[in-house]
Amino acid sequence: MEEVNSKYKVLFVCLGNICRSPAAHGIFEHVVREKGMEDKIEVDSAGTYSGHRGELPDRRMRNAAMYRGYALTHRSRPVSSLDFLDFDMIIAMDDQNYEDLMHLAPSVEATHKIRRMAEFFTTHKISYVPDPYYMGAEGFQLVLDLLEEEHVNLGVVVDVQEVYATTHKLCDSVDTVICTLADICQDTLVRHCVELLVVDVAYTSLQRAHSLQKTLLEGATY
Ligand code: 4NP
Repeated sequence: MEEVNSKYKVLFVCLGNICRSPAAHGIFEHVVREKGMEDKIEVDSAGTYSGHRGELPDRRMRNAAMYRGYALTHRSRPVSSLDFLDFDMIIAMDDQNYEDLMHLAPSVEATHKIRRMAEFFTTHKISYVPDPYYMGAEGFQLVLDLLEEEHVNLGVVVDVQEVYATTHKLCDSVDTVICTLADICQDTLVRHCVELLVVDVAYTSLQRAHSLQKTLLEGATY
């Protein structure tokens, strides 16, 4: 069976990559570590503006995040069109970031990787993550409140995609086994029995995958 070993890569993008996206990056990385999924999910962040390249996150964001238990150590970097080849999901903090990413995307297929952070909000009724750079302390707290809430759901989304990937690989493998059986087994009755057995095992696994997916979507494991 072909291995599902490549990591699912998530990139968070804001304007300067010193406030919102490094916070999203740090919080999501924390969630991934807590769930023991470091070998499955990779996280990074970048900015559409390169003026803060190489800088640590804004001190106000670092302090606010540290107070909640996240040490933000990322160094700002500009997003590049090559990121569309490298990452599976690219998440914009606000509408301007989204538009800038749409322009940067090297192909129509690549634009399908771009998502809005607010898509993952469940309790907060706001359609973007507000830029806190020119705000007071409450702006940074609001950003962290939003990001902490949605990351639980984002974790679920990524989990579900893992389940889907595994399920599809399983179906491919079952097809391969059945084709091989058809080639090597001359006795029609024996071949039919073995085929039924293989399909039965696959179907049970599929049901378990769907059940896991349902549990994850309901957030029952979080
Ligand atoms: P961020 O915040 O996009 O959340 O990193 C900003 C950082 C810097 C600037 C604006 C927003 N700036 O104008 O330099």
